[in-house]
Amino acid sequence: MKAKFFLILPVMLFMTIQLTSGQSTGNPLTDLILSAYSPRNYTTEAVTDQQIDIILKCGIKAPSARNNQPWHFTVVKNEALVKEIIPAAVAGNVLFVISGKESETGTTPDFDCGLTTENMFLGATALGLGARIYGSPVATAIKLREKLQIPAGFKPVIILRTGNIEKTTDASSGATPRKSSEEMVNIIK
Ligand SMILES: Cc1cc2nc3c(=O)[nH]c(=O)nc-3n(C[C@H](O)[C@H](O)[C@H](O)COP(=O)(O)O)c2cc1C
Repeated sequence: MKAKFFLILPVMLFMTIQLTSGQSTGNPLTDLILSAYSPRNYTTEAVTDQQIDIILKCGIKAPSARNNQPWHFTVVKNEALVKEIIPAAVAGNVLFVISGKESETGTTPDFDCGLTTENMFLGATALGLGARIYGSPVATAIKLREKLQIPAGFKPVIILRTGNIEKTTDASSGATPRKSSEEMVNIIK
């Protein structure tokens, strides 16, 4: 009886997740993409080193023009520095400052940095963390480039904030609505 309950429990959990995050597409990756959102509210539980490592691996795996990988990642765990960059951040948040290679001709470092950032965003979300991309605080990161030990030839392009979120948050209702596909898509037959 007890064994049966523990067998049914994961199935019930899975069904609850499906029901709270909208219709399943039948594929875990597309389901994740369609239910991901960018939380602003975080708990003070710390992001672990193992989670940081996986998020970095997801970023490093991103495609880039000519496979140039024109990026550098600065992991900011220091609470004071995290709050200097994003004042609304809380203890336990970890920032990834993604810097792009400067003076690259014929390639697309900013675009490539966008791809690596989205990979990391989805990786963090898949781990059950919250993640939000930030452009506004990049100016502060540029000012702090020495403190952040950003290597010469690289410039902060974008920041990813990660942290723990209340696990009860309904992902679908947390996401900002999107424009309709009718407004944005045309199909040539
Ligand atoms: C390039 C870029 C820059 C962003 N900059 C900020 C920012 O400075 N501050 C902020 O609160 N959110 C920022 N965001 C987060 C967006 O507002 C968020 O992704 C969008 O509203 C969709 O939210 P959702 O994923 O919850 O649906 C940024 C997102 C991107 C892609």
